Amino acid sequence: MTTSSEPIIQVNQNILEMEYAVRGPIPQRAAELQREGKPIIFCNIGNPQALGQPSMTYYRQVLSLVEDPSKIQRERQLKQLFEESPVSELKDDDFISDDVLDLSEQITRMTKNGTGAYTESKGFDFIREAIAEFIDKRDDVEGSGGVKSDPEKIFLTTGASGGVKYVIDLLIADPNDGIMIPIPQYPLYSASIKKAGGVQVDYYPDEDSDWTFSRDVLDESLDKARQQGVMVKGIVVINPGNPTGAVLNRNSIDEVIQFAKENGLVIIADEVYQENIYNGEFISFAKALGDLKVPLFSLHSISKGFYGECGHRGGYLEVRNPPKVQGSDLDFLDLLLKQASVSLCSNTAGQLLTYLMVSPPEEDSHSYVQFVQEKKNILRDLRKKAAIVREAFAQMEGVECFGETGAMYLFPRLNKLPEGKTDFDYCLALLEETGLCTVNGSGFGQKAGTNHLRIAFLPPTPLLEDVLPRWIEFHNRYVNSYRTE
Ligand SMILES: Cc1ncc(COP(=O)(O)O)c(C=O)c1O
Repeated sequence: MTTSSEPIIQVNQNILEMEYAVRGPIPQRAAELQREGKPIIFCNIGNPQALGQPSMTYYRQVLSLVEDPSKIQRERQLKQLFEESPVSELKDDDFISDDVLDLSEQITRMTKNGTGAYTESKGFDFIREAIAEFIDKRDDVEGSGGVKSDPEKIFLTTGASGGVKYVIDLLIADPNDGIMIPIPQYPLYSASIKKAGGVQVDYYPDEDSDWTFSRDVLDESLDKARQQGVMVKGIVVINPGNPTGAVLNRNSIDEVIQFAKENGLVIIADEVYQENIYNGEFISFAKALGDLKVPLFSLHSISKGFYGECGHRGGYLEVRNPPKVQGSDLDFLDLLLKQASVSLCSNTAGQLLTYLMVSPPEEDSHSYVQFVQEKKNILRDLRKKAAIVREAFAQMEGVECFGETGAMYLFPRLNKLPEGKTDFDYCLALLEETGLCTVNGSGFGQKAGTNHLRIAFLPPTPLLEDVLPRWIEFHNRYVNSYRTE
């Protein structure tokens, strides 16, 4: 019998051991310093609006009107009053445009019960149909003779994270079941595999070749896992990459598809940064797959791109070639639906923003020009900020950064850390001295013997221009200060 007054309960060991570096010890220390009054620049997470990225006017206008449809009528009345008796302080543009009002009305009708009711577990039908159309258009299915997306195989999810968890929970059936993930990786994957009680099987894209990977790298990792008795079920690919920012070329994508086909694996394609490509082209796994019968789970999200609506937690999971379930008449779609049903549905604001993400304003609409301008400004700004940070690396001793810039991150290699110092020590010291909060490379996994950090290049340019010279000064002092003679 316990005499302690504090209750003690045994918990799920997998959750106890799970790690998530982007909200780990360094960001926690940053929050502590901030509470003490120190100015902190949070570059530890791809959370654009937290760093001042504006929301898209079009999205927010529609979202707010659909949340409160009584305002649609009111807007129309105000507009009419203004037209009948113009007021000099107001211009036509101060009113919400008719196309936004019409669309909001149309969406309100399609939601039937409004935004406060549970939806179908998979999400609103009209949104899943719009996503399928978006995918077909993005991948030029008609022109290229590709395979059309099926709205019945699309699930609206709580961010892309919700979809990833569904798939990983389904795949890990036994403690020996494993999933291949790229190293470095976004810790959602390592954490979800850990939580599901499976085995993380690492494969290593080649940093010095701009994070590309060859078939050898995939075979080597699979063989090693199999020799250890791991039953590998799937492979995760993040394109563009987090934390590397690397953008996969067609060759690497085809290698993965062929590899998965030959080894009976499913592919989990994390494509949340598909709009964050600053030079070059995004090729989706769905497009590259064509009519090959390899199971594919593709993820997209409203959190990234130029939309940056992380807090609204929206995204989708598209399934192609869903596998049959062993020992049952069911297939993966049935079980994904079962999982979605247990959570009832993903939140409606996230669903609506996903709808808007896949249905931008028509070219001849009033909102189009402003929409395109805002989108261009955000993406141009991101590209510029990445370039400023990269230029700073050139002035830091022993820092190299590989690959084209993609996503929202740079992942420089720190080649000259003093003996005995890790990238964690470096990031902590950088935070304490300059207020810049980054994440140590070890939080994402990295090749043994290397050190990195990840920086999200999201803060406003003046903030970056202020902190970068201090970082350069800190860096060059740090790498030279602990020398053992
Ligand atoms: C590669 C990758 N996948 C998924 C996510 C999760 O995104 P969401 O906000 O849609 O859950 C992130 C978030 O940073 C990410 O970087």
